[in-house]
Parts: sequence; C-alpha cells; structure tokens
Amino acid sequence: MLEQIKQTDKAYYMNTFGERLPVCFTEGNGMTMTATDGKIYYDFMAGIAVNCLGHNHPKLTETICNQAKKLIHTSSLYYIESQANLAKVLCENSCADRAFFANSGAEANEGALKLARKYFYNKGQEKPEVITLQNSFHGRTLATLSATGQEKYQKPYAPLVEKFVHVPANDIEAFKKAVTEKTGAVLLEVIQGESGVRPLDKAYLEEIRNICTERDIVLIFDEVQTGMGRCGTLFAYETVGVEPDIFTLAKALAGGVPIGAILCKEKFSAFVPGDHGTTFGGNPLATAAGLCVVNELLHNGVLENANKMGALFREKLTALKEKYPIIKEVRGKGLMIGVEFAEPIAKALSKQLFEAGFLVGTVGETVFRLVPPLIITKTEINLLTDKLDELLQTL
Ligand SMILES: Cc1ncc(COP(=O)(O)O)c(C=O)c1O
Repeated sequence: MLEQIKQTDKAYYMNTFGERLPVCFTEGNGMTMTATDGKIYYDFMAGIAVNCLGHNHPKLTETICNQAKKLIHTSSLYYIESQANLAKVLCENSCADRAFFANSGAEANEGALKLARKYFYNKGQEKPEVITLQNSFHGRTLATLSATGQEKYQKPYAPLVEKFVHVPANDIEAFKKAVTEKTGAVLLEVIQGESGVRPLDKAYLEEIRNICTERDIVLIFDEVQTGMGRCGTLFAYETVGVEPDIFTLAKALAGGVPIGAILCKEKFSAFVPGDHGTTFGGNPLATAAGLCVVNELLHNGVLENANKMGALFREKLTALKEKYPIIKEVRGKGLMIGVEFAEPIAKALSKQLFEAGFLVGTVGETVFRLVPPLIITKTEINLLTDKLDELLQTL
C-alpha cells in the first residue's frame, strides 16, 4: 500500500519536501499514530506543533463532526457566531483587543505586516522598514519570505519585498543600529522554532519593547509556533512579561483544522472596510474547532499539563545530558524543546528512533526539535527518554 502511495506521489505531487520519511499514517489516537502497515508510532512532532490535543481527541472530533453537519462555510458576508466568540475568548485571555482570522501562519503574518503599514498610512507617515531577526522563520509568501532571515529560502525568489532588515538575535546593539526614522515595525518569534528552538532573552525583548514604544514602532510577535499553550502559557510573550502591539497565531489554534489569526491592541486596529479580507478565514468549521481547543487549554487542564509535562520532559532530558556529554544543551519552554548535540548525530539518531516507533524533528545535523501534543503524559516521556538513553549508550 505504501509503495503505491509513494509512486502516485512521485508521479503527480510537486516535490518540495524532498525524500519524505517512508511512512503514511491512516489513523491516530492521543499520542500515537498508526501507519498503513499497522505499526504504531509515538508522536513527538504533533504535525509540526499543530495537533495540540493529540489525535482523535473526543471533544475536538465531535465538535468538528457536529459543525460539519450544520455548516462548514458561509463566508464573511454574514455574521458567524463561532468567529465572534473565538475572537472574544482570544482577546479576553490576551493583551489584544481585536482579532482577525486567516488560514495559515504565513497569511496571518502577511496580514500583520499590512496592518502595521496601514497604521502609519492612517497617520500620514511613511515608515516602511521592518526589522526581523537572522535565522527567523515567518512563512513562504513573498512578504513573509522577505521577513524570514534565512537566505536559503529567499534565494530563488528575488526580487523580494523591499525594506526588510535582518539583525542577529539577542544583540541589542545591532538592533539599535538598525533602527532608523523609517522603521515602522519589528517582527520576531519569542522562541525561534524553525532554526532550532532558540529563545530570545527577556532583557533583549524588554529593551526592544521600550525602543518600540519610545519611537512609535509597531512590535509584532509571531506566535504561530509558540502560541496556544506550546510554551506552558497561553502565549509565549507571557513567559517574558513583554506585550506585543500585534501578534499572530496559526498551527495549534484549531488543533489541526487550518486557521491563522492576527491579534492587536485597539490602537493598532487600523483596518477599515475593504482594507483586508479572506474567503475561508475564520469560517464556522475552523472557528468552532478553535473554540474547542481554547476551552480544553483553559478549562480542562491542557495548559496546566503542558506546563507540568514540559518541566518533567526537560528535567529528564537534562539528566541525559549529565550522563552523555554528546548532548550539548537542552533548551526551550513548556513543550517546545530543543536538544542540541555536540556532534552531527541528530539525523542518524532520529532515524533510529523512527525505526523504534518514535517521531521526532531535526534541525540540521545537530538539533532535535520536540513539540509533542500538549496532552502528553509521563508514560510517553519515559518511553522516549528511555529509548534515547539506550541509543546513546551504543554510540
Ligand atoms: C514561527 C512561524 N511563523 C510562520 C510560519 C508559517 O506558517 P504556515 O506554514 O502555516 O504558513 C511557521 C511555520 O512553521 C512558523 O514556525
């Protein structure tokens, strides 16, 4: 069966992902997924930080099925109850006053960049420059690719959108040097995910916050990966006590149903009718799923679990680091965890784990990225760390 799927994929699907892992999943349950050959895998990737409630979560599945039986989509020509309610609950539980829904992280970031531009347009000011960080990741549309500080993704698409300036992370002097009269926005991830789970320093973020406030620069946090409980708080900015003016969400917001969101404080809510729009964004299906996810996080212990299990997971990985010097660093917050190795073993080790039935992510040859469902328990954490212990012993 897998061979047939691979052949069809090779014949018809655009190959942007290279050689995929030789597996196709047919169903999932909680922390596990089952492949076409019946083999069960423990999922420590959650569809790249998406399946926050795991697989086949009873309430999320029921919500989606019930909503699909009523209405999947109506369009934004009409009022949508779950859209209004999801906007309300996100604003009530964050520093934001208003929300707008999109379909992906890139689209949410694109919208946030437009919102910052519109804020200055309304004021009759021209401040088109945007400062972002080296090794950041903000998406694959032309503007978000231009924001992304990684040349390897940008190279084939020149000319990019102008006026993006990339500075090294956690270097406040470099940041200060990059600020000009024309700087309108700063876009950054509180923890850089795609480049290997690299947290920004609290003091660095505090200084950026102060500079942005003093110089009327819009501070945008990309919480596409870090948001929705991933870092042990609903949003990662809470872990550093620095509030953005605008922030974006996607990935886990609807537990796997595609959605993105732009959230902002009232002062920065610069769009007026006609400025921005979307066909699918915030439709009844996606926002009903989003409401279910937020409810599980806030009222059914999932956020608390992410916090507790995140601490336990990092503790167990740190114990492995003490035992094996080949582990250089264990970093991250909540259940967004990076494990850096002193030697280029990440890919080979992840392959061994895959063969043993564990799905983990890698960044380059030296980093593991672990972003499991937030419903993870001690059992799965012990299974993975025990297996890692066993594999590291044989190196
Ligand atoms: C921080 C961050 N921003 C934006 C994106 C882009 O999101 P999407 O793939 O949904 O467009 C990603 C995806 O990995 C991300 O990690």
